[in-house]
Amino acid sequence: MAIERTLSIIKPDAVAKNVIGQIYARFEGAGLKIAAARLAQLSRAEAEAFYAVHKARPFFNDLVSFMISGPVMIQVLEGEGAIAKNRELMGATDPKKADKGTIRADFADSIDANAVHGSDAPETAAVEVAFFFPAMSVYSR
Ligand code: TYD
Repeated sequence: MAIERTLSIIKPDAVAKNVIGQIYARFEGAGLKIAAARLAQLSRAEAEAFYAVHKARPFFNDLVSFMISGPVMIQVLEGEGAIAKNRELMGATDPKKADKGTIRADFADSIDANAVHGSDAPETAAVEVAFFFPAMSVYSR
């Protein structure tokens, strides 16, 4: 399988719970490497732009307000099949439906405060990585 890059965000709920390290341990345990990372407080405009694809959905405003409610930890994960691997580690969008042992099953409280974001396809991964990180700040290791 090809080496891929994917964008991961540890959302404000999980950052507030102080579990960044525990979530990073899961990425590393699955063979994913951190290729770029930064802690950030998103502005409303940035969160709206990042989630523009969901603009017409009824949960859009609540999602944006949640994403700016505190700092987020943003990282590029790199590794074999990184996009699908990260989605597996994350678990289903609704933590109640997420498989046991996934990040959302273990750290998320609800479908709207669900601990992590992960790109869902190669096209979105490329756009999302570039949204937060200039190419020169992403490092293969
Ligand atoms: P989505 O892309 O469907 O899920 P995922 O994060 O698993 O790729 O939705 C994006 C985010 O929107 C999701 O993580 C949380 C929020 N959301 C809600 O708040 N309510 C909902 O009913 C859905 C589907 C998503």
